[in-house]
Amino acid sequence: MFDDPQSPAWTPLLEAAWKARAHAHAPYSHFQVGAALLTTSGDIVAGCNVENAAYPVTLCAERGALSAAVAAGLRPGGLVAAVVVTDVAALTPPCGACRQALAEFAEALPVLLANRGARELHRLEDLLPHSFTGRNFS
Ligand code: THU
Repeated sequence: MFDDPQSPAWTPLLEAAWKARAHAHAPYSHFQVGAALLTTSGDIVAGCNVENAAYPVTLCAERGALSAAVAAGLRPGGLVAAVVVTDVAALTPPCGACRQALAEFAEALPVLLANRGARELHRLEDLLPHSFTGRNFS
């Protein structure tokens, strides 16, 4: 299902990501991003980027979605799939900070990158090999 980028299973996630993207607050970069996460409870939680005049305060769409999912009860192991959408030709992969944040909850998460016409499927463990995890504390 989520190992096929063309699977119809992605449709509700894509719709949620596009809807969230429309609410992006990106007055500085004008680069609007939408993200959506599917949890093992069957919930779809979306996020958009939220920029700030103090640039480093900016929050990416992926971490916005993740924060909302955790607030709704997400725990490690509870993520099924993620989608990131932008309206530019080059598909947008999650930034390094977002990869690390997502890896805390699902190291092998399928991550679909999409624009209006193209899709590309990755696994988080391929986007962020050898990630730092809680296991590194022991
Ligand atoms: N951005 C995201 O929201 N997600 C990504 O995966 C890449 C970058 C946002 C942050 C900032 O608001 C804008 O895109 C330009 O970097």
